[in-house]
Formats: sequence, C-alpha cells, structure tokens
Amino acid sequence: MFDRVKLSSLAAAALAIPLLLDSSLTVAQQASAELVREQGWQLVRDNCTECHSSQIIVQNSGNREVWKSRIEWMQASQGLGELGAELEDSILDYLATNYGQKASSRRQALAPHLMPDNPSAATEQ
Ligand code: HEC
Repeated sequence: MFDRVKLSSLAAAALAIPLLLDSSLTVAQQASAELVREQGWQLVRDNCTECHSSQIIVQNSGNREVWKSRIEWMQASQGLGELGAELEDSILDYLATNYGQKASSRRQALAPHLMPDNPSAATEQ
C-alpha cells in the first residue's frame, strides 16, 4: 500500500519532467518545432528560421526545382544570403524529401448526372 503511493508519486514526478523541459524551450526551438525530424532538419532550423518561423516552410511543398526557386527568390528580394553549394544541396534534399510536390488536393468535379437538381433551371423551361 505504502509502496504503491510512493510509486505513483514517482510516476507523477517522471511525467512532470518533460513538461518542465518543454517550458524552457528556446525561441529557436519553438520556431522550428514543426519541422519533421529527418536527416538535415537542423540545417533548416539553423538557416531558415531566422526571419520567419518554420510554419511557412511546412505549409509549402514542391519538388527540388520549386524549393530552389523559393530560395533564389528570397536571395534576390528578401535578404537571404548565399548558402554555399553543399549546404544548399543538403537543405534542398531535406525539403524535397519531406515537403515534396503534393498531388492535387481537389477532387474532380461531379459528373452532371450526379449533380443535384437546379430549381431555377426547371422554371426557365
Ligand atoms: C533573410 C531572411 C530570410 C531567411 C534567412 C529565409 N527566408 Fe524564407 N522568406 C523570407 C521572407 C521575408 C518571406 C516572405 C514572408 C511572408 O510572405 O510573410 C519568406 C518566405 C518564405 C516561404 C514562402 C514563399 C511563398 O511562396 O509563399 C518559404 C517556403 C520560405 N520562405 C522558405 C525558406 C527556407 C527554406 C529558408 C532557408 C533556406 C528560408 N526561407 C530562409 C525571408 C527569409
């Protein structure tokens, strides 16, 4: 009985530890919280979340060329510096692998015979 009480308070303490750690996250960690933790994610955290959060990154998608054009656009107009070929390659690998081109998210239109009746079309006849 006594032991069970001890055990449950130990369990409660163990559960509280991650909560305490969470509240001490740095701003940089919060800014990159959404990034998929796959190979190269730290490069994106370190080079891509200075001006905006990673939210804007994870909301986007595209193949390698699309991501490259985004980086070039930021370099040409938003003050993003040169990354260097090797770093840019690794960042593009990460982005194209984890945030690749999405298939269209819109379903096809219904066939005309599956559409609901249109009352105004009926009165115009
Ligand atoms: C020097 C500042 C800066 C850095 C560093 C930076 N960006 Fe940006 N980025 C911007 C600005 C400014 C915008 C426009 C923000 C807006 O629309 O609110 C932007 C927008 C974006 C967008 C949205 C583009 C669109 O089509 O809507 C993506 C995706 C993006 N950045 C990805 C990245 C990636 C990946 C990196 C790292 C290689 C990066 N950013 C680093 C400044 C930066």
